[in-house]
Amino acid sequence: MSVSWINDPTAVGYFEPTRFDAAVHDCEVIEGAIPSDLRGTFYRVGGDWFYPPKFRDDSPFNADGYVSMFRFADGSVDYQGRFVRTQRYLADAKARRQLFGYYRNAHTDDPAAKGVSRNVANTNMVAHAGRLFALKEDSRPMMIDPNTLATLGEWDFHGRYQTPTFTAHPKIDHTTGEMICFGYEASGDASNDIVFYFVDKSGRISRQVRFKAPYVSMIHDIAISDKHIIIPVYGMVTSPERLQSGKIHWGWDRTATTWYGVLPRDGEASDVRWFKGPERAIVHTFNATTQGDKVVMEAPISDSNPFPFFPAIDGTPFDRAAARTLVRRVTLNLGSKDDSWREEILYPDAPGALSRVDDRYLTRPYRYGYMGYSDSKRPFDSVRGGNMAGRITNSYGRFDFATGKLDSYFAGDVQSLQECSFAPRSAQAAEGDGYLIGVASNYAERNSELVVVDAMSMQGVARVRMPFRLSNQIHGVFVPAADLPGFSTGA
Ligand SMILES: [Fe+2]
Repeated sequence: MSVSWINDPTAVGYFEPTRFDAAVHDCEVIEGAIPSDLRGTFYRVGGDWFYPPKFRDDSPFNADGYVSMFRFADGSVDYQGRFVRTQRYLADAKARRQLFGYYRNAHTDDPAAKGVSRNVANTNMVAHAGRLFALKEDSRPMMIDPNTLATLGEWDFHGRYQTPTFTAHPKIDHTTGEMICFGYEASGDASNDIVFYFVDKSGRISRQVRFKAPYVSMIHDIAISDKHIIIPVYGMVTSPERLQSGKIHWGWDRTATTWYGVLPRDGEASDVRWFKGPERAIVHTFNATTQGDKVVMEAPISDSNPFPFFPAIDGTPFDRAAARTLVRRVTLNLGSKDDSWREEILYPDAPGALSRVDDRYLTRPYRYGYMGYSDSKRPFDSVRGGNMAGRITNSYGRFDFATGKLDSYFAGDVQSLQECSFAPRSAQAAEGDGYLIGVASNYAERNSELVVVDAMSMQGVARVRMPFRLSNQIHGVFVPAADLPGFSTGA
């Protein structure tokens, strides 16, 4: 069957799927120079429809996983990108058409898809205990060869990971090397079971904790301090009836209570304490700290549904203003009998959603957050860049949570930035001493650029021009050369 994109209204202009694997040896540096102390790999992953979706109103989160890497060494950078060879990708490729229906709803699949894993491995990448994974929260981790990006298959942690789902946002405590991860909908679609797993630095599961959420909802990310785990539960809901009726997995319930569960890192299911409050969406977090009886989290949070492709269950139209995501601080007081929380908006003029920190400080006391955001005071050249109103992330910000200061890097007047990752200058460097690395879409040139920014001065140090549009990124991670086996460069 010939491929037609008529069923994908998002596959227009700059946003057409790319559909090819690629490699570029020694990429073209058009500004500055690649720092000679940058040695490691920036891995990125996102969705790229290999065949058009079955349904025009499906979520882009359902697209095929595409992994790519920029490998830095000796002042140069090489690129490689390829589709994850999931069971689903291979079944579609063999059938030469899309067999799979709506995002996380197997009831809407073609009969030929029965029994084939729906894992698209398109959301995030993490390296732990010498292994590299591409993650999708409805499935187990997909192991990826760190040097060739070949797909090695799903990983079950030596048979001890018995849950069908695995978060796209596991957290690694770099002090101990422990990875804390979880699966939600852990007893199958639309179940409200959550299972946390604690994986030691050698990659073995040491402990697990199973408990129930107040209701089944999207639990995309968590935040962890040195003592506590914060689990946000909010009105992105589903049910067996919803799935059986052939709808997309999630719908927004604006009447749902928002809950934050707090699990002590050394605690059991009976130790989870729940705090509750009004409508919010907490898709991502920066980090958290425990300060006496208080657990404090910084996160980009919106007042309502941030995703137009997951419509409201009561039929109310998508509210673009309420979807605006702003950096907030949430304080949960374990010493109080009150079960409400305190919330402050820290940066009212810097909307953005993809929050990061210096990963070495995840789960530890920290100062800086990093996030791409839309700075309305910066120009956009719509003559050269086209009508991209509302689609521009023009700046990377360094959010100083100690002082409230915001320093920023502006990418240019026809560019939009994807998520940044932090690369430390060295393993011993102080918090924030290193580089922000990310990809900019150049809407005028219809290609992509890699930007490297000094994370202390927030000045650009290198810009690389790619000879084509890169696949869209959801998340990425910089992994120092020493953290994964077999690091090498060469044509
Ligand atoms: Fe995410």
